[in-house]
Amino acid sequence: MAVPDIRTPLPGPKAAALIARDAAVISPSYTRGYPLVIARGSGCAVEDVDGNTFLDCAAGIAVNATGHSHPDVVRAVTAQAQQFLHMSGTDFYYELQVQVAEALAAVAPMDGPVRAFFGNSGTEAIEACLKLARYTTRRQQIIAFLGGFHGRTMGALSLTASKTVQRRGFGPLVPGVTHAAFADCYRCPVGATPDRCAAECLDPLEQQTLVQLVSPDEVAAVVVEPIQGEGGYLVAPDQFMQRLRDLTSRHGILLVVDEVQSGMGRTGRMFAVEHSGVQPDMVAIAKGIASGLPLGVALARAALMTWPPGAHASTFGGNPVACAAALETIRLLNEQLIRNAAVVGERLKAGLTALVDKHPLIGDVRGRGLMVGVELVKDRTTKERAPEVRNAVVNAAFRRGLLILGAGRNTVRFCPPLVLTAAEADTAVRLFDEALTEVASTSS
Ligand SMILES: Cc1ncc(COP(=O)(O)O)c(C=O)c1O
Repeated sequence: MAVPDIRTPLPGPKAAALIARDAAVISPSYTRGYPLVIARGSGCAVEDVDGNTFLDCAAGIAVNATGHSHPDVVRAVTAQAQQFLHMSGTDFYYELQVQVAEALAAVAPMDGPVRAFFGNSGTEAIEACLKLARYTTRRQQIIAFLGGFHGRTMGALSLTASKTVQRRGFGPLVPGVTHAAFADCYRCPVGATPDRCAAECLDPLEQQTLVQLVSPDEVAAVVVEPIQGEGGYLVAPDQFMQRLRDLTSRHGILLVVDEVQSGMGRTGRMFAVEHSGVQPDMVAIAKGIASGLPLGVALARAALMTWPPGAHASTFGGNPVACAAALETIRLLNEQLIRNAAVVGERLKAGLTALVDKHPLIGDVRGRGLMVGVELVKDRTTKERAPEVRNAVVNAAFRRGLLILGAGRNTVRFCPPLVLTAAEADTAVRLFDEALTEVASTSS
């Protein structure tokens, strides 16, 4: 499939017809940034129902780790579908679920034995971590971070603090959650730079919140994304993660890393937390783990996962077809795709960084591996956010055949399949450059 190849106005006639039907019957709570109606995909290429093709740097929100319909994944899924579709790993045994748990144990970012709990999504992985943290510590309080996104079920939503629309109207949420400031290094509150940073942004948590508001011996867990995803692709510096580990260890608090978006090879390591050398107590995994099939995992140090039969379970969690996809995905990640994410991710980031001189709209380019964000601002000095411009750029890119997504208030995110080639990365940069040029000329 040659990409991009735009043959109709967008949306084309078939896409427009489907979108009209969708508008009548689908929940209006979904956030569709532009009118893409997919017909099929292969690798990083997507074809819509009108025959237009696009370069996919969104991957179904960082999910299609091995690319669209990777032949090895499709083969494994098909073979498993012919054996059995479901048996509920909560009540019966099957080898695939054990194999995925073993494969995850082999790559877990912590030493020693680990155990896996299977759900179907990121939010379920977080719910499991929350429940397990409370259960095992017998403490109730949780610390999460402003800007964080952990899902939309009531427990996970209580941690989520990304946009008010996600919480508005749904209260009261789960009590016992306190939010702290995250590391926004582009807007560092103490004006530090990477070489002069001792993660001072954690001072208020350590010296005020945990002194004046919440007693640390009542805190079950600190839940953190090593790179905030929905929050705007903010990379926590290594010192931040290290200081959190130190703080939590001192008070017997569990450190839970939400790797739903940043995990499974995306940042050039299996888990983003590995970049900091920090070993967490639990890891929430979903999105990329099964290349597009629904699977969520709460991975915990084995010593913590001692809840009794009946304490927590999910009928569909660890579905055998999803597990077959996960096993194949983990193999492909280990064999080549994590490395590819690191190498091609560097190239993508370098290409985007090279646009800084040309486009005053770009305030910051950041990320790790194939998790790259470009923050757009109205003015580089004041760093005033440019949300409308961001939305316009995402749409202009779409019209040129590049699929990207917004993140946070004014950031564009690139989270392509990890099979992205160097040539495709260059194409993405070129199309993004053109989109910026178009928007700059119309908005000035
Ligand atoms: C970091 C993070 N955690 C949790 C979730 C929730 O995952 P899901 O939508 O699969 O419930 C997301 C989804 O975007 C996420 O990015």
